[in-house]
Amino acid sequence: MTRDDPFGIYVHWPFCKAKCPYCDFNSHVRHGGIDEARFLTAYLTELKHFAGRAPGRTVTSIFFGGGTPSLMQPRTVAAILDAIAGHWGIADDTEVTLEANPTSVEAENFAGYATAGINRLSLGIQALDDSSLKALGRQHTVDEALAALDLAEQTFGRVSFDLIYAREGQTLRDWQDELTLALTHAADHVSLYQLTIEDGTPLATRHAAGTLRVPDGDKASAMYALTQELCETAGLPAYEISNHARPGSESRHNLLYWRGHDYAGIGAGAHARISEGGIKHALSTLKSPEGWLDQVETAGHGLSSDEPLSAQEAADEYLLMALRLTEGVDLARFAALSGHAIDETHVAALAGDGLVARNGSRLVATPSGRLVLERLILELAA
Ligand SMILES: C[S@@+](CC[C@H](N)C(=O)[O-])C[C@H]1O[C@@H](n2cnc3c(N)ncnc32)[C@H](O)[C@@H]1O
Ligand code: SF4
Repeated sequence: MTRDDPFGIYVHWPFCKAKCPYCDFNSHVRHGGIDEARFLTAYLTELKHFAGRAPGRTVTSIFFGGGTPSLMQPRTVAAILDAIAGHWGIADDTEVTLEANPTSVEAENFAGYATAGINRLSLGIQALDDSSLKALGRQHTVDEALAALDLAEQTFGRVSFDLIYAREGQTLRDWQDELTLALTHAADHVSLYQLTIEDGTPLATRHAAGTLRVPDGDKASAMYALTQELCETAGLPAYEISNHARPGSESRHNLLYWRGHDYAGIGAGAHARISEGGIKHALSTLKSPEGWLDQVETAGHGLSSDEPLSAQEAADEYLLMALRLTEGVDLARFAALSGHAIDETHVAALAGDGLVARNGSRLVATPSGRLVLERLILELAA
């Protein structure tokens, strides 16, 4: 790590209006209200902790994720951004993203977020069909989502939106129509996720009981292939498995994760990677919002784990992340992190199966390799 490497800040807001039945993110519903001023003080305290552990860095991206950060008051977002600027240098073209749910109430805050310093909005639209939105437990309609998207495009320099495919009852033709329509609304970036049945969610309970019929196996692979094709034709090729952008409009914050750079992470259930004395540390904070709050107030941070990674662990983590990227793994970086070159016997075997390919000094997963990433990682990691 050098001081000039990208450095990001992740801010987790762990609250939502309602819990979607497919979601296993660290998000909680609090009907009794949230003491936002008290949370803000804790965010500022935790930022100070990270500033002490990553001094002298220049921030290149900031990401407010959740949960639903568009439930935060713009002045809370502004105060966090001011504090970040007080602790670190901020690069001229720093990307500052906020994840938003597209309800009309949240759209009312867009102008306030832009004034606070947000320059990129990521909208969770999820589906362009009202019955699917209902089944996904969403709090917005298609019309509301498209109105929020229009407003976002007038308000922020950069806008992305998320959709989920391979949903209950969805056919390949349905997804083709939906994505074609979505791409007519796309600005410079879209995230298209295949529905994952996450353990412990209401969707997983239905799946186990056999009452949830989702496209899987060949059908889901066909949807994935169609996604690549339609996005490519629309000028938004994939730069990562689920992320598509016009060249130059990739999310710098997401790229920073997948390229294995350092980032601070504040708020309940946030993760961080910080290099100290040449050793990368993997950190995470308590998941319970109130537990996190109490600990920050007494200890000055909400960390629940802080592990130094061995050189091999850091290199394997980089491999795991970078194989997701279209640009692939920089083999010189892998060797510098691990202290040895990648195992050529394994590379040759996987290349023979058509799963990876060399692109100069890089190793990339082929389209069929991307479908079996876990196998690649198992075979290539030490
Ligand atoms: C932190 S989440 C959501 C942000 C925001 N609260 C929202 O719902 O729009 C980020 C994205 O992950 C995706 N996602 C969440 N759970 C998923 C699942 N089980 N399968 C596929 N995508 C999922 C959704 O597209 C979502 O927009
Ligand atoms: S998908 Fe978004 S709104 Fe729904 S529970 Fe998860 S974080 Fe909250």
